[in-house]
Amino acid sequence: MLSGERDFENRIVAPEMEEMDRENDLSLRPKTLDEYIGQTKAKENMAVYIEAAKRRGEALDHVLLYGPPGLGKTTLSEIIANEMGVSFRITSGPAIERPGDLAALLTNLNENDILFIDEIHRMNRSVEEVLYPAMEDYALDIIVGKGPSARSIRVDLPHFTLIGATTRAGQLSAPLRDRFGVVERLELYTPSELCRIIERSAGILSIEVEHEGAMELARRSRGTPRIANRFLKRIRDFAQVIGDGVVTKEIAAEALSRLEVDELGLDAIDRRILTMMIKNYNGGPVGLETLAAATGEEAVTIEDVYEPYLMQIGFLTRTPRGRCATALAYEHLGMAMPQQPCGECEQMRIGE
Ligand code: ADE
Repeated sequence: MLSGERDFENRIVAPEMEEMDRENDLSLRPKTLDEYIGQTKAKENMAVYIEAAKRRGEALDHVLLYGPPGLGKTTLSEIIANEMGVSFRITSGPAIERPGDLAALLTNLNENDILFIDEIHRMNRSVEEVLYPAMEDYALDIIVGKGPSARSIRVDLPHFTLIGATTRAGQLSAPLRDRFGVVERLELYTPSELCRIIERSAGILSIEVEHEGAMELARRSRGTPRIANRFLKRIRDFAQVIGDGVVTKEIAAEALSRLEVDELGLDAIDRRILTMMIKNYNGGPVGLETLAAATGEEAVTIEDVYEPYLMQIGFLTRTPRGRCATALAYEHLGMAMPQQPCGECEQMRIGE
């Protein structure tokens, strides 16, 4: 195992679903759109589409949800099924190995049911081709026989809704992407949205949290509810052992510092990526693959997991020639700015 992988698995700020999140997730997951905090645009749009589909008594149009991991794509999809009053079937791109696996899933659906395919960008081509007529015409084309006598028979499917989720919408083939009537991007959450999520979760888990304590956790949760809820559980342990059980601002700050999560939610790997860019590549531009090799992380992991938050807080920019660290990143790491301007960013780094 690469050292990067090991670090990543141990990261308390890893947005991927870990074993420790599963139990958490079930009790903390909101069940209705009203309970779901944040993602206002996607939520308001979905509320309209759900209401319209229900009034017409039809299946909801196919939905593609994309955005960084941990933002609630699965949760939102379950809520959509709940609000539509239909069954929710869940699978993932890599789990559907052959066209027959997908055919079995599709033929077992009932009218208006929702089929959720996570990591839909990882579905293989032969499976994807079965999806096209299924999505467009609610039909399966099955080849029977071999050679000259082979023919295709069409099997009707119930009217269903496919919800696809992906961290990489750009990797979806155009024919698949075009078959989704609704495409929504989920955004990183603001600290005040995360604070409301933490306070809601604390209520469910009977954890006493002061508003400032919740805000401190929220500010360090890198825009991701899954990380916020994970912090809440860990910080409860610190509150019970080093405090009187209440999550205060001081306890939250102390506990997260001990977990090597800084005031902005950056951990050792984020800092290593930025430090590498600054020390070895003069702040950039540095190509993604070069940065991946230099830090021991996978390029896709840097792109999907680390970069969205570093870009959101204005520490990293993407340019055609690679990634650049910004003045804010230098300042946060206490490092001196280079003297020459960065042509790629078309700005003087000094006094930026
Ligand atoms: N728990 C995780 N994500 C949530 C959200 N968006 N709203 C409420 N609770 C959540």
